[in-house]
Amino acid sequence: MVGLKLDITNVFPFVSKEKVFIYKDEALRHLKALHNKTGAGSDFTGWVDLPSRITEENIRDIEESASYLRKISDIVVVVGIGGSYLGAKAIITALSHNFEYITCKKENPSVLFAGQNIGEDYLVELMQILDKKDYSIIVISKSGTTTEPALAFRILKKHLENKVGITESRKRIIAITDKKRGALRTMADQSGYKSFIIPDDTGGRYSVLTPVGLLPISTAGFQIRDFINGARAMEKETGLDIPYEKNLSAIYASARNALYRNGKTTEILANYNNKLIYLSEWWKQLYGESEGKEHKGIFPASVNFTADLHSMGQYIQEGTRNLFEIVISIAETNYTLKISEDEKDLDQLNFLAQRRVDEVNKMAELGTILAHVDGGVPNIRIEISKLNEYSLGELIYFFEKACGISGYLLGVNPFNQPGVETYKKNMFALLKKPGFEEETRRINERLRR
Ligand code: PA5
Repeated sequence: MVGLKLDITNVFPFVSKEKVFIYKDEALRHLKALHNKTGAGSDFTGWVDLPSRITEENIRDIEESASYLRKISDIVVVVGIGGSYLGAKAIITALSHNFEYITCKKENPSVLFAGQNIGEDYLVELMQILDKKDYSIIVISKSGTTTEPALAFRILKKHLENKVGITESRKRIIAITDKKRGALRTMADQSGYKSFIIPDDTGGRYSVLTPVGLLPISTAGFQIRDFINGARAMEKETGLDIPYEKNLSAIYASARNALYRNGKTTEILANYNNKLIYLSEWWKQLYGESEGKEHKGIFPASVNFTADLHSMGQYIQEGTRNLFEIVISIAETNYTLKISEDEKDLDQLNFLAQRRVDEVNKMAELGTILAHVDGGVPNIRIEISKLNEYSLGELIYFFEKACGISGYLLGVNPFNQPGVETYKKNMFALLKKPGFEEETRRINERLRR
């Protein structure tokens, strides 16, 4: 049994139930293709049964390394980009204290992320922090050759070596990369870093349930066993033996494709708890990189409510009508807080006295859904039971499975990302990387025009 609930009733005023369920046979065929590895990009569908394949030995190995890193570090820097950091950052942000960076509760190290941009300032500021702290590095890259993390790792590795010496630095670096290929594999093997393998059959954005996500999450002090168990439960609930009407991922994939074919080309993921801010970033990468190809695909956007009701709310309510929304709601908060009575009631909030802050939040959510639906924005609502490891495991797997089915419904290969190479070629040509002479000539010609 899973706690996640999916409600698509607010899609039906725009696209009838029949028009959503018309995808039944096709969605089930694609579900089968995912499980049987017969669809496009099938070499990269290892994530489909990954939760149930993770062994006790895999988990213990990760937990032992995490526990070691926790013991020796005030800070653990996770170096990676795209699928090599977003899943971990999404889960760690969702489970962390909102103000931990201020209160610095110290039983676990702070996990900081680097290598996601090429900013000189942030690297210098990061090293200013690291100068005063005991720290370790988890460096993650499946290809082992991605420029942003490679650059950050080169600089941070040098910083660590200067700080603690080469021998000690090697005990403080863990690499997560391909079994055989890439510069990071070579560096890990030559320097004797502890390393974990990213399976060949699992692409970056589907890799949060591999050591890519699990090691940083465990290092931050969260329960990866619960996280995996949540994903396992969702793997079952979206399996081949689950009827279409009950298969949450197949239904979500069908609903968003039905909306897309009716002109709803932008999907906005909305949360009512700002701890989900990076879950949205992870979701945007998953869907954007999986579906945006061959001049097709829903544009994935995100908002944080209620904050963004005071910025993007106007557009969603009355702007171009090519939008639909997906809301993640959390049924039960982790704390309870009641609003107090005030004798003078100058702020005129006594009508809320003795009621919970969460009730106000939930009414904001319901009021907004109704307003947006009435304004022409279809709504899909997901409810998770609580913000904990188990529910997040369910949610992650639910979205991954739906993304695979949805990409196939759209008619694309959801497991490649050919478009990402274009900027890299230009950047290398402009930087005069050896081997890119032809591109350098081409780009210089283009700049002269
Ligand atoms: O989903 C993907 O495959 C990408 O977003 C990659 O994760 C990203 O480009 C980083 O690649 P790598 O892990 O090879 O450094």
